[in-house]
Amino acid sequence: MELFDKIDKFAKDEIKKTGLPQIYNYNIANEKAEELALRLGADVDIVKCGTALMDIKLGEAVALKQQPKHVSMSAEYANQILEKLKVEDTKKKVLINCVLAHHGEVPYQSIEAEIVANADAYRFISEIGVFTTYKFALDLGKNHNDALDFVQFKLDEKFKILSLKQAKEELTDLYFLLSKIIKKAHIKE
Ligand SMILES: [Fe+2]
Repeated sequence: MELFDKIDKFAKDEIKKTGLPQIYNYNIANEKAEELALRLGADVDIVKCGTALMDIKLGEAVALKQQPKHVSMSAEYANQILEKLKVEDTKKKVLINCVLAHHGEVPYQSIEAEIVANADAYRFISEIGVFTTYKFALDLGKNHNDALDFVQFKLDEKFKILSLKQAKEELTDLYFLLSKIIKKAHIKE
């Protein structure tokens, strides 16, 4: 049994409890990470574990109105899971860095961490990503224009993270198109 199969269970338990990340978003990052890892000769099991762990406490952080803290909360919980599963130290370090670096706050220590962060961008720089992020912002109590600004903020954040050639090629045109639509969608006051 691959490590991913075990970690996937923990991640899906959190999704069941909190509804976040949405299951299709979870799957997008997971599948894309696998594809990128195969193409780049990186460790497929590690990148899939990384994407499963990176937002594992997103739901809890959002419920606490502490969304930005989801990175450190997820890293802490990832550490507990990896200890419980008796994952060796080197692998554990790589996986914790995958979580901590997925918003670009700390440098990547491996190609796997870079793949995880790039795969995460596919969740946001997409038609589904834009509309679900917009709804998420409305649910937080933002008005239409502020929700659009929030979507653009997330798009910009993810666009800046793109570092792999394939991810840049696949997402750049879409990023500019979505940004243009969002700009036009603002209600003039
Ligand atoms: Fe995240």
